[in-house]
Amino acid sequence: MNKKGFGMLGAGMISGLHADAIRKSAKAELVAVCDVNEANARKLAEKFAPEAALYTSFEEMLKDKRVEVINIVTPNHLHTEFVLKAAAAGKHVLCEKPPAMSLAETDRMIEACRKAGVKFGIFVQCRMREPMRFIKAALDGGRFGKVLRVDAVMKWFRPADYYKMDAWRSNRKYGAGVTIQHAFHYIDLLQYLMGPAANVYAEMRNLAHPEIKLEDTLDAEITFANGVKGFIQASTALWPGNDVRIEIYGSDGSAIMEGAAFKLWKFKEERPEDENIRQSGDATQATAGSDHAALPSEDHQYVIDDCVDAITAGREVCIPCSAVRPSLEIALAMYQSDKLKSEITLPINEKGIWD
Ligand SMILES: NC(=O)c1ccc[n+]([C@@H]2O[C@H](COP(=O)([O-])OP(=O)(O)OC[C@H]3O[C@@H](n4cnc5c(N)ncnc54)[C@H](O)[C@@H]3O)[C@@H](O)[C@H]2O)c1
Repeated sequence: MNKKGFGMLGAGMISGLHADAIRKSAKAELVAVCDVNEANARKLAEKFAPEAALYTSFEEMLKDKRVEVINIVTPNHLHTEFVLKAAAAGKHVLCEKPPAMSLAETDRMIEACRKAGVKFGIFVQCRMREPMRFIKAALDGGRFGKVLRVDAVMKWFRPADYYKMDAWRSNRKYGAGVTIQHAFHYIDLLQYLMGPAANVYAEMRNLAHPEIKLEDTLDAEITFANGVKGFIQASTALWPGNDVRIEIYGSDGSAIMEGAAFKLWKFKEERPEDENIRQSGDATQATAGSDHAALPSEDHQYVIDDCVDAITAGREVCIPCSAVRPSLEIALAMYQSDKLKSEITLPINEKGIWD
């Protein structure tokens, strides 16, 4: 099988995970790396794809005919301009989360990719983690019965140095802060499971990082349109940092994914496959609770492989940007709620959200 050529845009901290996933993929090949910081691009290519072409200009990489998919791994506030340029050049796009810093930008990107007829997927890769796939399938099959609660608990730790590594990591307008940068994955998981939100209430605090002007702690309540409530506790202030827990409780069964494995998988009516399902995932796999770079590459690889399959089959990717837009709206509503000290009813008016 001919592998699809991937061009990596951004060769910083998390790009190694993407490059590793592409290297392990039987369907994708890293043919180009672009970064304004040439040393970063060179270092990434040397480690993962010595044959890859190196660029410091995105426009130049877009001209490279071997590049069919642009894999965007730049800071959060820079995603939009690159997605728009990639679409205009007729390239498929996989972009890191959050899609953008506003719904208006997100809509522009979705529309541009739709018009250009290119795929546009987002790396909220936790959706594809093995235990989560079992939870989603059981939910869609009605196995939980009436869903009563969904919660996300992210008690992580990031030292002051983490926020000082790059300027964007401590600037809210650039997409820093525990809500949009870290908890986004788990806001997204709850939205993935429950659908769009009706109301959001959030409180944000800085508990342990006086050197930055950002929230390092989020406590939020989401009332989903289906009436189910979900609570999110998320922090990067809580040393030493633990694995994330995603909990779903229903009238007929409950499940807890902790890190990359199951903590609980229990239904009133046990099925023969349940014991195998309980053993799925990897309980030894670090999931960034205390180390920002300690993440599995399998989930990214799933998204990358799926994108190639989607291109070949002419179908939608597994996590299209349009499916992540409601998660971004919830995150933005959280910032509004904290600012206004009141519950926010969706849809939001995002004007002035980052002022
Ligand atoms: N999915 C996940 O689990 C996960 C984990 C960590 C980070 N992320 C996301 O990945 C993205 C990158 O995060 P990071 O920690 O690697 O950031 P980083 O700052 O370490 O790396 C970003 C890279 O982009 C480059 N860059 C900046 N502007 C550029 C431009 N105009 N043209 C080309 N290159 C440019 C920088 O030189 C740097 O090498 C962010 O969107 C972040 O939210 C996702």
